Amino acid sequence: MRIEKVTSNKKQFLDLLLMADEQEEMIDKYLPDGDLFALYDDDLKSVCVVVPVNSETCELKNIATYQQYQGKGYGKALIQFISNYYKNDFKTMVVGTGDIPSILSFYENCGFENSHRVKNFFTDNYDHLMFEDGIQLVDMVYLKKTM
Ligand SMILES: CC(C)(COP(=O)(O)OP(=O)(O)OC[C@H]1O[C@@H](n2cnc3c(N)ncnc32)[C@H](O)[C@@H]1OP(=O)(O)O)[C@@H](O)C(=O)NCCC(=O)NCCS
Repeated sequence: MRIEKVTSNKKQFLDLLLMADEQEEMIDKYLPDGDLFALYDDDLKSVCVVVPVNSETCELKNIATYQQYQGKGYGKALIQFISNYYKNDFKTMVVGTGDIPSILSFYENCGFENSHRVKNFFTDNYDHLMFEDGIQLVDMVYLKKTM
């Protein structure tokens, strides 16, 4: 397994990025300035994008593993890698997600704990209703992890 920081042609990973964030114009807001990491195990399995928030905090904006490779530890390996990568630069990593039990379980399993919630984030910022696991995305739930 190897993880690379990708600095050019980040849009080549759009198919994976759209799995975690289904509106391309939202991805375009953070991808140009975000750090993109790609995990390969023979071929590409997962990607994630991290942006700085302030001098103490960075944010995981996107993480996705191809469906057929989910549940094999690739997502967790990426989070462990980026936590280590940024440990001297930031104190805390935050991530925002929908109020979806399976995704919250994934992040908790990767060391995140509940932080706060932004009411109506998805209904206010996306141009269509969105559902995950049959649950409508309404509020953004933030989780945090000490590096
Ligand atoms: C969320 C996602 C990135 C997880 O990646 P992954 O490579 O499947 O995750 P891992 O295999 O590393 O899982 C790590 C741990 O979380 C747990 N986990 C993963 N998906 C889970 C789920 N749906 N429900 C409960 N637990 C889950 C795993 O059991 C594993 O636990 P373990 O370490 O005890 O075995 C992947 O499911 C995905 O790409 N989903 C679609 C895109 C998405 O929703 N991204 C998040 C947007 S906020």
